[in-house]
This record gives sequence, C-alpha cells and structure tokens, in this order.
Amino acid sequence: MLKAVGITVGVVAVLGLIAGLITWGVLASRGPPPPDPPELIPLDWWQHCVLYQIYPRSFKDSDGDGIGDLQGIISELEHFVDAGVDAIWMSPIFKSPMVDFGYDISDFYDIHDEYGTMEDFQELLEKAHELGLKVLLDFVPNHASNESEYFIKSEARDPEYEDFLVWADGLPDPDNESNILPPSNWVSQFGGSAWEWSEKREQYYLHQFAIQQADFNFRKQAVKDEMINIMRFWLDKGADGFRVDALPYLIEADPADHGGRYPDDPLSGRTEFESHQLGYTIPLYTKDLIELYDVVCEWRDFADEYLEEYGGDTRVLFSEGYANVSMTMLYYGLGGNLNGAHFPFNFDFITDLSRDSTAPDFVYIILRWLTYMPYGGVPNWVFGNHDNNRMPTRFRDNMVDGLNSLNMLLPGVAVTYQGEEIGMKDGYVSWEDTVDVEACNRGDEDTYHLYSRDPARTPYHWNNSTSAGFSTSEDTWLPVAEDYVTLNLAQQKIDDRSHYKVYQALTQLRKEETLSHGEYDIRALSERTLFLVRSLSTHDTLVLLFNVSEDSDTIDLGRVTHLTLPATVYVASIHSARNSGAVIENSELTLQSGEALVLRAPPV
Ligand code: FRU
Ligand code: MG
Ligand code: CA
Repeated sequence: MLKAVGITVGVVAVLGLIAGLITWGVLASRGPPPPDPPELIPLDWWQHCVLYQIYPRSFKDSDGDGIGDLQGIISELEHFVDAGVDAIWMSPIFKSPMVDFGYDISDFYDIHDEYGTMEDFQELLEKAHELGLKVLLDFVPNHASNESEYFIKSEARDPEYEDFLVWADGLPDPDNESNILPPSNWVSQFGGSAWEWSEKREQYYLHQFAIQQADFNFRKQAVKDEMINIMRFWLDKGADGFRVDALPYLIEADPADHGGRYPDDPLSGRTEFESHQLGYTIPLYTKDLIELYDVVCEWRDFADEYLEEYGGDTRVLFSEGYANVSMTMLYYGLGGNLNGAHFPFNFDFITDLSRDSTAPDFVYIILRWLTYMPYGGVPNWVFGNHDNNRMPTRFRDNMVDGLNSLNMLLPGVAVTYQGEEIGMKDGYVSWEDTVDVEACNRGDEDTYHLYSRDPARTPYHWNNSTSAGFSTSEDTWLPVAEDYVTLNLAQQKIDDRSHYKVYQALTQLRKEETLSHGEYDIRALSERTLFLVRSLSTHDTLVLLFNVSEDSDTIDLGRVTHLTLPATVYVASIHSARNSGAVIENSELTLQSGEALVLRAPPV
C-alpha cells in the first residue's frame, strides 16, 4: 500500500493519471508512450531540509579556552555546505551561569561571553546566509536562570515581575512546627522536589528542571508578551526561526481549579523510586497540560504575522518535547489544523528503537508517526541530540550508514546531531570529569552514567591533532573521546569509503524529486531486513535495503514494491562488499549484519 506524501502529490498523480489515460486512449494501438513528468509544487525551504544541531560548547573552539564558541562555528560554516546541510540550529548561546550549559538563561537578549559577542552572532548570521544556510536559535520559554532579572525582581516582589514566576506558600509540617513543606509533591526532571524555598520572599518557587531554572508563570499575559518580545528581538537580528525547548512542562495545574492549592501528582506506585526521584509520581498536573498548546498556536500566529509584515523566507518553529504520540501530534496544531509548530521533533528513533529492535519494530515505529501525523504535516526524523546517548552507541557501529540512509530517504526533514555524519560515539567521561547537572543531581559515583548527558556532548572530532582539532588547548571543558585518532572528519574525507562520504552521497541524493516529492512504501522483508521505497512517476525509483540485525539475511527482491531489476547500487554502507555502481541482477540477495544498500532503479 502506498501513501501519498501530501495533497500536491495526490492531485498531481490524479492529473497525471487522467492525462495518461487520454494519451493512452489515443495511442493505444502503438503501445503506451511514456507519461509526462508530474508537475511538482515547489516546497518551502524547511519542508525537506537537512537540519543540523550544533552543540556550541563542543563544536569548535577559536580562542583556545577549551570551550566552543561562535567564531569557531563561523570558521567551520563551510563544513555544512560540504556535508549538504541546509539549516543549523544551535543549542542556547545566550548569557548563562551554565548550570545546565545554557538552558539556564540569565539574559535572553545577550550572547554568553564564553561564546562571543553580539557582533560575532551577526557575523555568523551574515556568513551563514551568504552560504545559503538558515540559522535557528534555541528558544527556552519554560524557565529562566535564578540570576536573571526576572528572578531577582520577582523574588523581590517588584510589582511588574511579582507573578512572573510560579510562587506558592509552603504547607505546614504536621510533624515539625518550625518546618514548612513544599506546596505539592511535584518532582523535578533532575531529581528532588520541583519547589525551592526562597528565604528572601518566604515562599517556594517552581523549577521543573534544576533549582537554578525557575519556571515562568504562563498564566500571566506579561510573561507571554515577554516571550514574543524575545522572539521578535532575534528575528529582527535575522534568525530564521527557533527550536523551542521543553514544551511539555510549559504550564502546570492552576490552584484556582484545585481549591486554592497546587494538587499533588498521583503516585506511580513504583516502589523502586523514593519520593524525591523522578518516576515516583505520574506527572498529571505538571506535564502535557492542554493549555500549553494554545500558547504554541499563539507563537505560530506571531511567526506567520512576522513573515507577513517583513517578508523574506518562512520563520519556523520546531517544538521539542517527549510525550506520547497523541500529545506530540497536537504540537502540529489543534483540531487537525496545522496552526501549531511547523513540526514537533520526532524522537521515536531515540525512545522506541535500539540495537535490539527488529525490522518490523522499525517499520512499525516509522509508520506510527506517518499515520498519526495530521494531514499535510511535514514529518521529521531525529537520531540523537545533546540529551541522549549518541546514535551508534544506542544502536551499533555497523548501523550508522543504514540509519543515516533512513534519515535521508524518509519523507520530510532529516535532522542530524553534530557528529552523526561521521558516526561519533559516546565519549567516556569519568565521575571526576562529569559536569552535567542531571548526572550530578540524580546519580553518584556508581550510578551517574545512567543519567549523564556528558558522553553525547564531548567535543567534535575534526582531525587527529591536539584535542581532535576542536581546540588548541589540551584542557577542554569535557574530555575528547579517545577514538578521535581514527574516527575524525579529516580522515573520513581521505578514506575511500567512510560514514562521511556516505552522508554526502545521501544529502546529494535528497535533491532528487523522488525524495522531496515521491511516495513511500516501507515494510519488513523479515525479522532482520526492511525496505524503504521512494517512487515518483517518470523518475528513478530509490530503494533502501537495511539489515538491522546482528546476523546476515537472505532476502527476495521480488517482494520489494516498485523495484525492477537490474538496479544499481547508488551507495552502500562502508562495510558492504558491494560498491557504488554495482549492478544487482538477481532477486536473491544476502545482506550482512548492519548492511545497507541504496538502489537506483528505472521508473516503473
Ligand atoms: C531538552 C532540554 C535539556 C535541558 C532542558 C531544560 O529536554 O533542552 O537539554 O536540560 O531541556 O531546558
Ligand atoms: Mg572558546
Ligand atoms: Ca512550566
């Protein structure tokens, strides 16, 4: 069964069919002539882009302080052009005490000094735009640093800011008169109570993340106005849009609906957790509240109005949040409308698939997104980010090319986390070197590795020189992973076959209309192997075959829809015995563990 990617394709296909039938009727006696190429409606810049996440602290250090910075990014902008990337999004570059490495912002209108200046940012934008790259910023609306003006003024009950954050009185402690308990049992994402006592204000404030990240009060219009001001400020500077952080936590239950107090989250009943640990409660009143989607829609209105007012290219909003499929799809918009974020990031490859997944698991999880997505929505595929173990570590080394092939051949936006184009794995970070607030709060010397996000944040491997070419200093903010000597970009540019060369071939292939406009069919051929077919009338058919298992597998290509043999190998995973250009004539084909082939076949 084939599913149309959007209206465009559907309408075009129908018109094509009618035209085809008429022509066929006239010329039937001489056999059907080749159909006319379909007329394709051009896509907006973001709808089929390759989007690359930069973790600025670890991308490239220009001044030798061991910390990545904006000039470092500027010096490597050509890398994106070379790799075939269309747009970059940067984790936060704003002024921050760096408790959560930039997700604790103290000034939303300024650049963090370790990263550079506003002039550096302007230069980055200008040079990126000259190269045809779009630049997205990370917008962090849920919380501000406790060193921000918002916090300082709110804590001091400055009338303008008094309710800017979520403040509440404590509860009397029946066991201890001199003690004041937190307003509710809510647990922070980083462990411990989500409430912190302020001596100064003699009230608790809410922090769904670290103690130093105080939640904004989104029930206050002034807060919503301020968020628009922040977005406008950066759009005025020339940013092309935002990745929007931590949305499921934007709004919490309203005490007005609960007899004037913050209601306790229900207990999960999971006895392995203590009351201060994430998992002890079910986040009924603290996550996925329906009101938050109205705010997202208001932001979309703002982005659309901004475009209308100032022209230029679409300013986009890509929303971030881990939620079940129905709550995730609501970020696209309410009531089946596409009036929310341009898309919510799809984390299914991170949360629902791993080295243990079978080919049917992959197909099922991929189709789940495509099935639940509202009609006309743009899908996207994420394989890793700064919050999760790296892609080859969660899967297997030999799956890197197959996973990048899936990313590039599936319909919609391909998202790459820095390093995935060269197959970077988690770096080892000892307890002594660990700096991630989540690991430090939730873990100890024995358990920190279960929570630490540092391994996915170690510096980028440019080459095999000092600190992998990331910095001239040997002392980097996180250690460089040891495998940089052999696993680095410079080496992969030299090698005959490399993850990087496969990545380049794939981004090049994305320019074909079959991938931007074609239909898709994805199925498991066995427990081990799946196929993804992309097809478009009059265009070559492109087929990915991918053995996701640990064993070899013999498949029957006769079962692959739309594939006519002989087909040619366009690109193969680096360990494959088959080279680009190899011709596949037999329908019986054996794929080794992790082997992936992208085939090109004539139009059907
Ligand atoms: C995504 C994330 C984390 C950060 C948190 C709070 O979940 O960006 O990296 O710690 O949100 O901003
Ligand atoms: Mg630096
Ligand atoms: Ca919140």
